[in-house]
Amino acid sequence: MEDQEIFFEQIRSGGCLSYILGSIKEKLCVVIDPEIDKTEEYLRMAEGLSSRLLYAIDTHTHADHSSACKILRDRVGAKVVMHRACEAPYVDLRVDEGETIQFGGISIQVLHTPGHTEDSTCLLAGDRIFTGDTLLIGGCGRTDLPGGNAEKQYESLRRLVSLGDQIHVFPAHDYRPAFSTLGDEKKTNPRMLVGSKEEFIHFMTSRKPPLPRKFHSALEWNRSPIQGTQRGMGEGI
Ligand SMILES: [Fe+2]
Repeated sequence: MEDQEIFFEQIRSGGCLSYILGSIKEKLCVVIDPEIDKTEEYLRMAEGLSSRLLYAIDTHTHADHSSACKILRDRVGAKVVMHRACEAPYVDLRVDEGETIQFGGISIQVLHTPGHTEDSTCLLAGDRIFTGDTLLIGGCGRTDLPGGNAEKQYESLRRLVSLGDQIHVFPAHDYRPAFSTLGDEKKTNPRMLVGSKEEFIHFMTSRKPPLPRKFHSALEWNRSPIQGTQRGMGEGI
């Protein structure tokens, strides 16, 4: 599909990045890694495009912020999409490696890329890849939180090396202007340039960064059922 027929926007909430991707002609869109504080913004954007918000997709179970997926499900009937390994009970479509999410002439290919979490995915849509916390710009997601595995993260990053250099990278987190290509990451990202699997595992397992500030409340919200999905209930649970 030509780029002029696609609506695409990166939405920033602190260091969290989410994305709306849609077909202008077909008036359908999806949101990727929606964050609870930006719920109204997603809904306004979809409405501004006279577009139906078809899917709310989380690339993985986030441990640092509350997902808006179940709220969007509740408010506008968006179907929640996540990898089949996720523990969230409100998921409508559980996807796996090689499957595609299709809507309005747009096709999103699911790559299962465990390591940051067991349910981590990268989503390839044309020349864009949504890498969640598998690949960050200049880094990669940590592997010491629940479901994390440094060896799997190494293998997942290796998989991305085989994809085209021109593909634009859109991660779930960044505090700087967040745009890169796979080619740039292959050349400059220290996590992709590491000499061996052993070296990578040593680096990832010897780091002890503090837990994310909202770790407990985020995991509780992102893994709990649909009850009480009114806007604003994501914090302080
Ligand atoms: Fe994460």
